[in-house]
Amino acid sequence: MKIGIIGAGHIGKTLAKKLINAAYPVILSNSRGVESLQPLVKELGTLALAGTNEDAAGSDLVIIAVRWEQIPEVLDKLKKQLAGKIVVDASNRPNKGAPEKPSTAVVAELIPDAMVVKAFNTLFARTLDAEPTVNNGKRVLFLSGDQPFAKESVAKIITQLGFAAIDLGSLKQAAPVTELGTALSGLNLVSYPS
Ligand SMILES: NC(=O)c1ccc[n+]([C@@H]2O[C@H](COP(=O)([O-])OP(=O)(O)OC[C@H]3O[C@@H](n4cnc5c(N)ncnc54)[C@H](OP(=O)(O)O)[C@@H]3O)[C@@H](O)[C@H]2O)c1
Repeated sequence: MKIGIIGAGHIGKTLAKKLINAAYPVILSNSRGVESLQPLVKELGTLALAGTNEDAAGSDLVIIAVRWEQIPEVLDKLKKQLAGKIVVDASNRPNKGAPEKPSTAVVAELIPDAMVVKAFNTLFARTLDAEPTVNNGKRVLFLSGDQPFAKESVAKIITQLGFAAIDLGSLKQAAPVTELGTALSGLNLVSYPS
């Protein structure tokens, strides 16, 4: 399964490294173009490729790792290409004012025919980058989404990366605890075998 990562900053790079360690081929894109990504893909090794946003969106599963302000522009151009695909939204909306709807609802409305799964947004990039195994426990990554098949696919990837996947239910159910500044945001939990 090839994974596209749109955004090659803190979160995009960290996820690329983890996915490649788990033997997934990745294609990364950013705003400055393929040339600017060459040093990074060289560092990541032979499973990494640099491409345009359209190249990344052509992958089997696509991760959105751009800042909130970039989301509308990026997704608007990819709306048709992302139809029917699993799109993992790793973004967080800056915590300002009292927004009308959860950020996940905004993302899902921008790409209405995609299967959006919210994941990889609650841990800081540096924690995500750390070893997922802690003693005999596993660091927790939360996910939520409205299509069980899509969530199962993402949970499988999370598990392969060495984390414990915890499904919080639908996008609507999870939003009150996963949005920036809410209960699970930034929380570094470890799940131990019972
Ligand atoms: N950092 C964290 O600890 C953390 C944790 C959880 C979730 N998040 C969320 O993850 C997202 C990314 O955060 P970050 O810290 O990784 O940000 P970042 O380091 O600023 O990286 C953003 C990336 O997005 C790229 N980008 C900007 N405009 C683009 C466009 N039009 N098309 C394609 N790529 C574009 C940038 O490319 P250029 O450099 O070429 O402009 C850069 O590679 C945010 O929504 C953030 O809330 C971050």
